[in-house]
Amino acid sequence: MSADDEKRLAAEAAAELVESGMTVGLGTGSTVAHLLPALARRDLTDLRCVATSPATADQARSLGIPVEDFDSLQRLDITIDGTDQVTPDGWLIKGGGGAHLREKIVAAAADRFVVIADSSKPVEELTWPVPLELFAFGLASTLARLGEDVTLRPGTPPSPDGGLIADYRGPGTGDPAALAARLEADAGVAAQGLFPPALVHDLFVATGSEVAHTSFG
Ligand code: 5RP
Repeated sequence: MSADDEKRLAAEAAAELVESGMTVGLGTGSTVAHLLPALARRDLTDLRCVATSPATADQARSLGIPVEDFDSLQRLDITIDGTDQVTPDGWLIKGGGGAHLREKIVAAAADRFVVIADSSKPVEELTWPVPLELFAFGLASTLARLGEDVTLRPGTPPSPDGGLIADYRGPGTGDPAALAARLEADAGVAAQGLFPPALVHDLFVATGSEVAHTSFG
Protein backbone atom coordinates (compact mmCIF):
# COMPACT_ATOMS: atom_id res chain seq x y z
CA MET A 1 0.00 0.00 0.00
CA SER A 2 1.39 3.43 -0.97
CA ALA A 3 1.86 6.42 1.32
CA ASP A 4 -0.96 8.09 -0.57
CA ASP A 5 -3.29 5.18 0.20
CA GLU A 6 -2.33 5.46 3.87
CA LYS A 7 -3.09 9.19 3.83
CA ARG A 8 -6.50 8.44 2.35
CA LEU A 9 -7.32 5.80 4.98
CA ALA A 10 -6.29 8.05 7.88
CA ALA A 11 -8.30 10.91 6.39
CA GLU A 12 -11.38 8.74 5.87
CA ALA A 13 -11.24 7.55 9.49
CA ALA A 14 -11.08 11.12 10.78
CA ALA A 15 -13.89 12.27 8.48
CA GLU A 16 -16.22 9.98 10.42
CA LEU A 17 -15.82 12.27 13.47
CA VAL A 18 -17.54 15.15 11.70
CA GLU A 19 -21.30 15.51 12.20
CA SER A 20 -23.94 17.70 10.59
CA GLY A 21 -24.10 21.20 12.07
CA MET A 22 -20.47 21.24 13.20
CA THR A 23 -18.00 24.07 12.78
CA VAL A 24 -14.92 22.55 11.16
CA GLY A 25 -11.32 23.65 10.60
CA LEU A 26 -9.73 22.23 7.46
CA GLY A 27 -5.94 21.81 7.34
CA THR A 28 -3.62 21.89 4.36
CA GLY A 29 -1.63 19.30 2.42
CA SER A 30 -1.87 16.05 0.53
CA THR A 31 -3.46 14.18 3.46
CA VAL A 32 -6.14 16.84 3.85
CA ALA A 33 -6.69 16.58 0.08
CA HIS A 34 -8.12 13.12 0.85
CA LEU A 35 -10.15 14.38 3.80
CA LEU A 36 -12.21 16.78 1.71
CA PRO A 37 -13.76 14.21 -0.68
CA ALA A 38 -14.35 11.90 2.29
CA LEU A 39 -16.29 14.70 3.99
CA ALA A 40 -18.17 15.56 0.80
CA ARG A 41 -19.24 11.92 0.37
CA ARG A 42 -20.91 11.96 3.79
CA ASP A 43 -23.60 14.45 2.67
CA LEU A 44 -23.50 16.29 5.99
CA THR A 45 -25.73 19.32 6.39
CA ASP A 46 -25.20 22.75 7.94
CA LEU A 47 -21.42 22.49 8.15
CA ARG A 48 -19.57 25.77 8.71
CA CYS A 49 -15.92 25.39 7.67
CA VAL A 50 -12.80 27.52 7.72
CA ALA A 51 -9.76 26.64 5.63
CA THR A 52 -6.08 27.08 6.48
CA SER A 53 -5.01 27.87 2.90
CA PRO A 54 -6.46 29.09 -0.39
CA ALA A 55 -5.72 25.64 -1.90
CA THR A 56 -7.86 23.92 0.72
CA ALA A 57 -10.62 26.51 0.36
CA ASP A 58 -10.66 26.04 -3.42
CA GLN A 59 -10.76 22.24 -3.22
CA ALA A 60 -13.45 22.27 -0.53
CA ARG A 61 -15.70 24.64 -2.47
CA SER A 62 -15.23 22.60 -5.65
CA LEU A 63 -16.61 19.61 -3.72
CA GLY A 64 -19.58 21.56 -2.39
CA ILE A 65 -18.17 22.02 1.14
CA PRO A 66 -18.99 25.53 2.36
CA VAL A 67 -15.99 27.61 3.48
CA GLU A 68 -16.22 30.98 5.15
CA ASP A 69 -13.78 33.62 6.36
CA PHE A 70 -12.46 33.06 9.86
CA ASP A 71 -13.83 36.25 11.31
CA SER A 72 -17.34 35.31 12.43
CA LEU A 73 -16.65 32.03 14.23
CA GLN A 74 -15.12 32.19 17.70
CA ARG A 75 -14.73 28.45 18.26
CA LEU A 76 -14.61 25.35 16.07
CA ASP A 77 -15.96 21.96 17.07
CA ILE A 78 -13.18 20.11 15.28
CA THR A 79 -10.10 20.78 13.18
CA ILE A 80 -8.48 18.04 11.09
CA ASP A 81 -5.00 18.45 9.63
CA GLY A 82 -1.90 16.55 8.53
CA THR A 83 1.58 16.69 9.98
CA ASP A 84 5.19 16.34 8.91
CA GLN A 85 6.33 14.56 12.08
CA VAL A 86 4.67 13.33 15.27
CA THR A 87 6.38 11.97 18.39
CA PRO A 88 4.92 9.31 20.71
CA ASP A 89 3.93 12.02 23.23
CA GLY A 90 2.19 14.15 20.60
CA TRP A 91 4.66 16.85 19.58
CA LEU A 92 4.24 17.82 15.92
CA ILE A 93 6.30 19.58 13.32
CA LYS A 94 4.04 21.18 10.75
CA GLY A 95 4.46 23.66 7.93
CA GLY A 96 5.91 21.57 5.14
CA GLY A 97 3.33 23.34 3.00
CA GLY A 98 4.08 26.69 4.60
CA ALA A 99 0.60 27.02 6.10
CA HIS A 100 1.57 26.59 9.76
CA LEU A 101 0.59 30.07 10.93
CA ARG A 102 -3.04 29.62 9.92
CA GLU A 103 -2.92 25.93 10.84
CA LYS A 104 -1.89 26.75 14.41
CA ILE A 105 -4.60 29.40 14.78
CA VAL A 106 -7.27 27.04 13.45
CA ALA A 107 -6.01 24.17 15.64
CA ALA A 108 -6.02 26.39 18.73
CA ALA A 109 -9.62 27.45 18.04
CA ALA A 110 -10.88 23.86 18.00
CA ASP A 111 -12.39 21.88 20.84
CA ARG A 112 -10.88 18.82 19.16
CA PHE A 113 -7.74 18.94 17.00
CA VAL A 114 -7.35 15.75 15.01
CA VAL A 115 -4.10 14.86 13.26
CA ILE A 116 -4.04 12.49 10.28
CA ALA A 117 -0.87 10.82 9.03
CA ASP A 118 0.67 8.08 6.94
CA SER A 119 3.21 5.73 8.46
CA SER A 120 6.20 7.90 7.51
CA LYS A 121 5.19 10.63 9.99
CA PRO A 122 5.69 9.05 13.45
CA VAL A 123 9.23 9.63 14.77
CA GLU A 124 10.93 8.84 18.06
CA GLU A 125 12.41 12.33 18.21
CA LEU A 126 11.74 15.44 16.12
CA THR A 127 14.38 16.51 13.60
CA TRP A 128 14.78 19.73 11.66
CA PRO A 129 13.74 21.51 9.53
CA VAL A 130 11.30 23.46 11.68
CA PRO A 131 9.24 25.70 9.38
CA LEU A 132 8.97 29.39 10.28
CA GLU A 133 6.88 32.26 9.03
CA LEU A 134 8.74 35.57 9.32
CA PHE A 135 7.18 39.02 9.21
CA ALA A 136 8.09 40.86 6.00
CA PHE A 137 8.73 44.02 7.98
CA GLY A 138 12.38 44.13 8.98
CA LEU A 139 13.10 40.80 7.32
CA ALA A 140 16.83 41.42 6.82
CA SER A 141 17.30 42.25 10.49
CA THR A 142 15.26 39.22 11.58
CA LEU A 143 17.38 36.91 9.42
CA ALA A 144 20.58 38.49 10.75
CA ARG A 145 19.42 37.94 14.34
CA LEU A 146 18.32 34.34 13.75
CA GLY A 147 21.65 33.51 12.14
CA GLU A 148 22.77 30.90 9.68
CA ASP A 149 20.45 28.19 11.09
CA VAL A 150 17.50 29.94 9.41
CA THR A 151 17.12 30.21 5.64
CA LEU A 152 14.26 31.41 3.46
CA ARG A 153 12.56 28.54 1.65
CA PRO A 154 13.54 28.92 -2.04
CA GLY A 155 10.79 29.51 -4.55
CA THR A 156 8.07 29.84 -1.91
CA PRO A 157 5.70 32.78 -2.28
CA PRO A 158 4.65 34.90 0.71
CA SER A 159 1.88 33.44 2.83
CA PRO A 160 -1.68 34.79 2.51
CA ASP A 161 -0.82 36.92 5.57
CA GLY A 162 2.24 38.40 3.87
CA GLY A 163 4.86 36.48 5.83
CA LEU A 164 7.96 34.81 4.37
CA ILE A 165 8.37 31.05 4.77
CA ALA A 166 11.73 29.93 6.16
CA ASP A 167 13.19 26.84 7.81
CA TYR A 168 15.26 26.41 10.96
CA ARG A 169 18.01 23.79 10.74
CA GLY A 170 19.86 23.90 14.00
CA PRO A 171 20.16 22.29 17.41
CA GLY A 172 17.39 21.87 19.98
CA THR A 173 14.73 19.67 18.40
CA GLY A 174 15.31 17.14 21.19
CA ASP A 175 13.76 19.68 23.59
CA PRO A 176 10.89 21.03 21.49
CA ALA A 177 9.34 23.16 24.28
CA ALA A 178 12.60 25.04 24.78
CA LEU A 179 13.17 25.41 21.04
CA ALA A 180 9.62 26.65 20.48
CA ALA A 181 10.06 29.24 23.21
CA ARG A 182 13.40 30.34 21.76
CA LEU A 183 12.05 30.71 18.22
CA GLU A 184 8.87 32.48 19.35
CA ALA A 185 10.91 34.91 21.44
CA ASP A 186 12.22 36.64 18.32
CA ALA A 187 10.06 39.62 17.42
CA GLY A 188 10.38 38.86 13.70
CA VAL A 189 8.96 35.32 13.94
CA ALA A 190 5.23 35.27 13.19
CA ALA A 191 4.89 31.50 13.67
CA GLN A 192 7.03 28.43 14.13
CA GLY A 193 6.04 24.89 13.18
CA LEU A 194 6.35 23.11 16.54
CA PHE A 195 2.87 22.23 17.81
CA PRO A 196 2.73 21.10 21.47
CA PRO A 197 0.91 17.97 22.67
CA ALA A 198 -1.54 20.16 24.61
CA LEU A 199 -3.01 21.19 21.27
CA VAL A 200 -3.53 17.63 19.97
CA HIS A 201 -6.58 15.54 20.90
CA ASP A 202 -6.53 12.67 18.42
CA LEU A 203 -4.05 11.07 16.09
CA PHE A 204 -4.93 8.72 13.22
CA VAL A 205 -1.93 6.96 11.68
CA ALA A 206 -2.42 4.53 8.81
CA THR A 207 0.13 1.76 8.38
CA GLY A 208 -0.74 -0.37 5.40
CA SER A 209 -4.47 -1.00 5.61
CA GLU A 210 -4.60 -0.54 9.42
CA VAL A 211 -5.50 2.79 11.00
CA ALA A 212 -4.37 3.31 14.61
CA HIS A 213 -6.26 5.89 16.68
CA THR A 214 -4.54 7.48 19.67
CA SER A 215 -6.38 9.88 21.99
CA PHE A 216 -4.36 12.42 23.92
CA GLY A 217 -5.61 13.76 27.30
C1 5RP B 1 1.20 22.19 5.68
C2 5RP B 1 1.31 21.14 6.73
C3 5RP B 1 0.91 19.76 6.33
O1 5RP B 1 -0.09 19.32 7.18
C4 5RP B 1 2.11 18.86 6.44
O2 5RP B 1 3.18 19.42 5.66
C5 5RP B 1 1.80 17.46 5.97
O3 5RP B 1 1.58 17.49 4.60
P1 5RP B 1 1.11 16.21 3.78
O4 5RP B 1 -0.28 15.87 4.27
O5 5RP B 1 1.12 16.68 2.35
O6 5RP B 1 2.08 15.09 4.04
O7 5RP B 1 1.70 21.35 7.84
O8 5RP B 1 1.71 23.41 6.14
